[in-house]
Amino acid sequence: MYLPDQAISYGPKEFFMQKFAVITGASKGLGKAFAQELARRKINLILISLPEENLKQFGLQLKSTHPIEVICFETDVTHTDKIVAITKEINENYQVFFLINNVGVGGSKKITEVELSYITTIIKTNIKATAVFTHQLLANLMNQDQSYILNISSLAALTPLPYKTVYPASKAFIRFFSKSLNLELKDTNTSVSLANLGPMPTNDDAKGRIDQHGFIGRLTLISPMDAARECVTKTFKRKKVININRLSWLTLKIVPDWIKIPILTRAMKNDL
Ligand SMILES: NC(=O)c1ccc[n+]([C@@H]2O[C@H](COP(=O)([O-])OP(=O)(O)OC[C@H]3O[C@@H](n4cnc5c(N)ncnc54)[C@H](OP(=O)(O)O)[C@@H]3O)[C@@H](O)[C@H]2O)c1
Repeated sequence: MYLPDQAISYGPKEFFMQKFAVITGASKGLGKAFAQELARRKINLILISLPEENLKQFGLQLKSTHPIEVICFETDVTHTDKIVAITKEINENYQVFFLINNVGVGGSKKITEVELSYITTIIKTNIKATAVFTHQLLANLMNQDQSYILNISSLAALTPLPYKTVYPASKAFIRFFSKSLNLELKDTNTSVSLANLGPMPTNDDAKGRIDQHGFIGRLTLISPMDAARECVTKTFKRKKVININRLSWLTLKIVPDWIKIPILTRAMKNDL
């Protein structure tokens, strides 16, 4: 049998039939904040992110400070066969009642200047991984009394954004995927929530962008911990759409394109 990259588990086998939450992209940023928030709620965790990014230490730290079980899978989710192997192992050993499709990458670059791999990595990470994790874990989720899927999108899904191009398009996919899945699972015990997030100071790239946008950037800012807390609370209330930065969301909704698109285009150009 193909073994997924470095599946690490801490704790006794009896834990394994308890219920778990799966978080993709859990080693840093918003995914790490989700893990901390669920640990605070004493929820067992299955964490997934790239190898050699301190996921094991983070898992051990959560386990030593909370009465929970933590399983870590270090793997590259751009490979479908690796997701299939991990989810097979999860389905055989653990009951999953919560899936957070958080993993996502982006950036601001001129499309004429990027390598092909830049585009395919965004598509595989943001779009394909979300669809494959959901498909492969759905039977497990639907087997629980009550279960939840939370898909992480962005305000970027609500407007065209030059120099980001593939990223907003990938988040628009998440938006329609979630809304469609929600309708399809309407009469089941599995709820599907979509979170539209605005700027958060997670990685260096995001922090740089926020600094670049000055006062306006800081005005709409939210911490990853606050965002995670609000998303989890609303997901457990089975809210279909969760808008975290409501001021930014409202602005994008009500300001007409002829005003907002030139402003956003200038802002995106400044990010280059
Ligand atoms: N930050 C923002 O301003 C913002 C705004 C709106 C929406 N969002 C969305 O929020 C989500 C989280 O973003 P973030 O800012 O927290 O990102 P981040 O700080 O860059 O963290 C990304 C996480 O995903 C993991 N990851 C990346 N590529 C992977 C791969 N190929 N295989 C496995 N794991 C991988 C990283 O693992 P490693 O640590 O191993 O690299 C890391 O744990 C994304 O979906 C993003 O689009 C973010």
